[in-house]
Amino acid sequence: MTSNNQWNVDPNSYANVNNFRINHMKLNLKTEFERKALKGYVIHEVDIVDKNSNKFILDTRNLKIFSAAWLKDDNNEISLKFTLGEENKMYGQSLTIEFVDDMLKESKVNVKINYETTPECSACQWVEPSQTVGKQYPYLYTQCEAIHARSVIPCQDSPIIKHTYEAEMIVPEKLRALMSAVLLEEKPVENGLVSYKFEQKMRIPAYLLAIAVGNIKGIKIGPRSTVWSEPEVVEKAANEFVNTEDFIKIGEDYLTEYAWGVYDLLVLPPSFPFGGMENPCLTFVTPTIVVGDRSLVDVVAHEISHSWTGNLVTNSNWQHFWLNEGYTMYLERKILSKLHGEKYRDFSAIIGWNDLKEAVNNYGTEQDFFTALVPDLRDRDPDESFSTVPYEKGFNLLYYLEKILGGPEVFDPFLKAYVIHFTNKSLNTDEWLQFLYDYFKQHDKSKVKILDSVDWDKWLYGFGMPPVDPQFDRTLLNMCDDLAKRWVEKKEATNFDEFSLKDIENFDAMQLKVFLASINESGPFSKAFIEAMDKAYNFTKVKNSEIRFLWQYLCLNSNYEEIFPEVIKFVEEQGRMKFVVPLYRYKKKKKQIYYYYYYYYYIKKIFFFKK
Ligand code: BES
Ligand code: ZN
Repeated sequence: MTSNNQWNVDPNSYANVNNFRINHMKLNLKTEFERKALKGYVIHEVDIVDKNSNKFILDTRNLKIFSAAWLKDDNNEISLKFTLGEENKMYGQSLTIEFVDDMLKESKVNVKINYETTPECSACQWVEPSQTVGKQYPYLYTQCEAIHARSVIPCQDSPIIKHTYEAEMIVPEKLRALMSAVLLEEKPVENGLVSYKFEQKMRIPAYLLAIAVGNIKGIKIGPRSTVWSEPEVVEKAANEFVNTEDFIKIGEDYLTEYAWGVYDLLVLPPSFPFGGMENPCLTFVTPTIVVGDRSLVDVVAHEISHSWTGNLVTNSNWQHFWLNEGYTMYLERKILSKLHGEKYRDFSAIIGWNDLKEAVNNYGTEQDFFTALVPDLRDRDPDESFSTVPYEKGFNLLYYLEKILGGPEVFDPFLKAYVIHFTNKSLNTDEWLQFLYDYFKQHDKSKVKILDSVDWDKWLYGFGMPPVDPQFDRTLLNMCDDLAKRWVEKKEATNFDEFSLKDIENFDAMQLKVFLASINESGPFSKAFIEAMDKAYNFTKVKNSEIRFLWQYLCLNSNYEEIFPEVIKFVEEQGRMKFVVPLYRYKKKKKQIYYYYYYYYYIKKIFFFKK
């Protein structure tokens, strides 16, 4: 097998994790909105695992480091020498702290670093009041995955390191702080400021540390869940997510007890670049899924699934991202099919397969790097490798294994054993494969032969589509395709009277999506065609962001200029990359709405697009 020997180190981090390992973090930060800075200190409780080195190397990016010290005990700080390495565009700067000899006699030491962030920090979005719903207060949120935690805290920014944390956030009294942890205490301090204290007792990788500060209110929606957002939209948001507890329970029945205590949701300001982010205890979601009809809550099912795969069981570096996202797609579809039926699982999987096909085709000659399930990320930015590939190729590998090994009866217990075995740990693909073999050697030797028949090399390191066609059930899909075919046959027509709202009355949002995606493949279309479809189905008026996106894309692709104002409205209203980037890129190609340049600049702060 073409395994590389870089698997045990993280090519995207400077940290010398074989010498030192952070075990616990104490964070104390004050928000300074005028200066767009977080200022304070972190105390790292560090395990010294190999005394060969006295240099404790951390990751940083755009941080101002003021001092480093060995915190011998509460009243005894010994100042330590530190140096910042050369700045690297992708990875930031290393921070090397020199330990004095006495420190190396210990097995554990506390290292305190005084520092502050700068407006350039890639994880911090300082949102102006005008960009919030209420327009009155500023807002701050962080997005640390994949390698942006280093721009919030000097840390070992590699997911191979997992630690607990406690934090105190000091913020203006009109605002509230939330973190990816459990709230312990909230109390006023001096000068119109409030302190919020948090604790995360579970071990997390640095990328799961998250902060949000703003005018935020909460409504409790379940025994362990509160929905948080700006007060103007909190009721609508709470209503959208009332079924959250059902998802968690299905996850628990399927795997293990939910380990994080609280499961809250935070609806962010519209600029939030993702659909959702699985910050522990507090999933972050885009407001574009608050539609009013609960039609996009699959994002919540996805983020809840990360409570097991990703957050309990974590990829040890970003080359093995499929262990986070492929597994989570697999679980998400399991949870949703328990609610909507087994056919729904295959339907959703076909959509994923089509997305994957599109991604693979779009990469063209760059396929080598982008389309391997386990890519080589040496000298690469993990943000650059972010695509459907780890999600859907990863899902397909698990789906395929489930099928050939004997179905859910055999595969469900394996998944559970996997989660239990790697809970609180990080792993890579080799370790995953080893566990898979060990499990079946122990539980059912006859399966080992089946495992041997898998073309592992192609699946894990090959480029392009997966080596096996999964043969999904197409019942729900055919309904969409049949309607799409009827339309495409009329591509050159002038009379569209045969179509009406009745055609789609039994379609759910997902089927509409598939219908539009399928139509999109046969574009461009005439103005008469686009107008007829809109007249029949009212797509321009639809609020569901996924449908809105596909419809606008179809219109742009057909040069239907009447849609421009709608597109501008859409990209102005929200900043979810999934919607904004393709629409922006499309316009860049056509050079018609220069406005997108502004928007592009706005979101690029976090995700340094190379295009
Ligand atoms: N963890 C991801 C988001 C992410 C990935 C952030 C990589 C930064 C780097 C999250 O769980 C996710 O996959 N979100 C999806 C939604 C989901 C339903 C597929 C998204 O944002 O579109
Ligand atoms: Zn995910």
